[in-house]
Amino acid sequence: MNTTEIKAVYDRIKANSESFLGYPVAKDFSYSDYAPFLDICINNVGDPESPSTFAIDTKDIERQCIAFFAEMLSSSMKDVWGYVTNGGTEGNLYALYLARESFPNAMVYYSESTHYSVKKNLHLLNIPNIVIRSQDNGEMDYEDLEQTVALRRDKPAIFFLNIGTTMTEAVDKISEIKRIIKKYAIKDYFIHCDAAFLGTIAPYIDPKPKFDFAEGIDSIAISGHKFMGSPIPCGAVLVKRKHRDRIANSVSYVGTMDTTITGSRNGLTPLFIWDFIQKHGHEGLKDRVKASQEIAAYTEHKLNGLGIKAWRNNEGLTVVLPKPSERICKKYQLASQDDIAHIICIPGITFKQIDAFLEDLKTELFEIPTEFEAVIA
Ligand SMILES: Cc1ncc(COP(=O)(O)O)c(C=O)c1O
Repeated sequence: MNTTEIKAVYDRIKANSESFLGYPVAKDFSYSDYAPFLDICINNVGDPESPSTFAIDTKDIERQCIAFFAEMLSSSMKDVWGYVTNGGTEGNLYALYLARESFPNAMVYYSESTHYSVKKNLHLLNIPNIVIRSQDNGEMDYEDLEQTVALRRDKPAIFFLNIGTTMTEAVDKISEIKRIIKKYAIKDYFIHCDAAFLGTIAPYIDPKPKFDFAEGIDSIAISGHKFMGSPIPCGAVLVKRKHRDRIANSVSYVGTMDTTITGSRNGLTPLFIWDFIQKHGHEGLKDRVKASQEIAAYTEHKLNGLGIKAWRNNEGLTVVLPKPSERICKKYQLASQDDIAHIICIPGITFKQIDAFLEDLKTELFEIPTEFEAVIA
């Protein structure tokens, strides 16, 4: 590509980035300090805790990121192990793989509000699974879960929980899962939390939802490019150490342990996550959550003021609303499903952008004539 073509691609993505309101991807980052890394090959091949003979990695940085996440999720590197992934999908795939290795005859239970990639992951892993109904807010229907589990209480169970569903940011209740486990005396079970969006948000919400290692979960997947922000999709998966140890085997070709989904792994994204952690830390994340909640509350309130039935789960950043016109959905890149759409108030979205969206919506709703129509009327 010549420079004009490169600029055209950049300008297109930059303009589209500025206008979207419907996807949970932060916009307020800059990692241009890391530009020199674009001229070298970085590869975190294999296990982050095991050095490779191919030593062009950022595994030391990656381990620091995982240690931060472990602490954020009420654990420590003594008990949990993890690595920086390519995003939520890989983290969920990895966790389901470990769950299957723990309990080869298990049944997976997950709600119909679960991210579309999970069905594909289960297909890849060939694990039997049952979809559980969801409540209207997107949370799992625990009655349906209970009835389903009761019929298969002899089987090991893998519970796949949403800590923030994709459409409505609903949180499945771990207390309900534990109640069912106890009631039916299920001895062999594995609890995975898909916290792709809320993983770096929920720890800073007051009151904090119950979802982390303090609750006895086995694994958790979180995203890095969503609430923290990154130019390249990324995330992290953290698992109880014993699960990782079960599948670990050493590979002489690269001199490291083959404990991750892919062999060659991204060494650049741990630098971005680490940079974010250095700059923001726990306190910064807390402030970031609060600022985003304020924009979400404002959006919900203003939409309700227009007579639109907008709502949020808890104090979430996802404002759910009846699906607006195709034109509005396209202009603001609003994700929709059936008759609902959402605005996700992630860092980088401003009150000004919300106001512009509201004006557009108002014009359409009340059919205020455009300037041109007003002149010719
Ligand atoms: C709840 C949930 N899980 C998993 C994913 C997949 O994450 P990724 O796109 O990072 O692979 C998403 C993405 O939006 C999600 O919302």
